[in-house]
Amino acid sequence: MEKVKLAIIYYSMTGTNYQLARWAEEAAREAGAEVRILKVKELAPMEAVNANPVWKKLTEDTKDVPAAASEDLLWADAILFSSPTRFGNVTSQIKNFMDLQGGIWAEGKLVNKVVSAMASAQNSHGGQEQTILAIYTTMMHWGAIIVPTGYTDPSIYKAGGNPYGTSVTAGTDGMVEDVEDAVRHQAKRLVEIASMIKSCSGK
Ligand SMILES: Cc1cc2nc3c(=O)[nH]c(=O)nc-3n(C[C@H](O)[C@H](O)[C@H](O)COP(=O)(O)O)c2cc1C
Repeated sequence: MEKVKLAIIYYSMTGTNYQLARWAEEAAREAGAEVRILKVKELAPMEAVNANPVWKKLTEDTKDVPAAASEDLLWADAILFSSPTRFGNVTSQIKNFMDLQGGIWAEGKLVNKVVSAMASAQNSHGGQEQTILAIYTTMMHWGAIIVPTGYTDPSIYKAGGNPYGTSVTAGTDGMVEDVEDAVRHQAKRLVEIASMIKSCSGK
């Protein structure tokens, strides 16, 4: 069987979700997947980006990360999203990317993608779970196969116990919970489940 192809698609303004995506990338490669790490297109005006030194630096540091495109979704067996919370919801940047997939969605080409999601918010109850659920709502419309983390590994308790997908509290002083192992577990689990589904489909 061919390797599982995983697209990790993130948005990040101050680096948290970028770091989650990088940990996931490493773990998914270790689990045997072929991985593309991809950012979604920035929608904020450059004046806003440049006015915030942290945002500006991350934008420069990640300029070589390719932008996610429909072709990446067609290529992928599995997709892992990572989004900051915006007023208890997914970022407009990730939502915009999803909305642009109407064409391939209408052709049925997103059916059976194996999907999971991660999130961050500044407050410990600031909407992390809701952000992941917002992503999963769209995934149901795509006919994707959602792989939540559940309580499938002790690392999930250490990370704060979100069974929907790994999430973290991240303010100006960095990440509050220790989530690295949970991210790695989530990525590995996603690759394993995608591999089972791929092998059943004879690909
Ligand atoms: C417009 C805006 C809305 C936000 N809404 C929330 C929110 O509802 N709850 C919360 O706890 N944090 C909120 N935040 C904080 C971000 O979620 C936090 O900075 C982010 O998770 C950090 O991720 P990043 O480092 O990958 O950008 C908001 C930030 C912005 C800019």
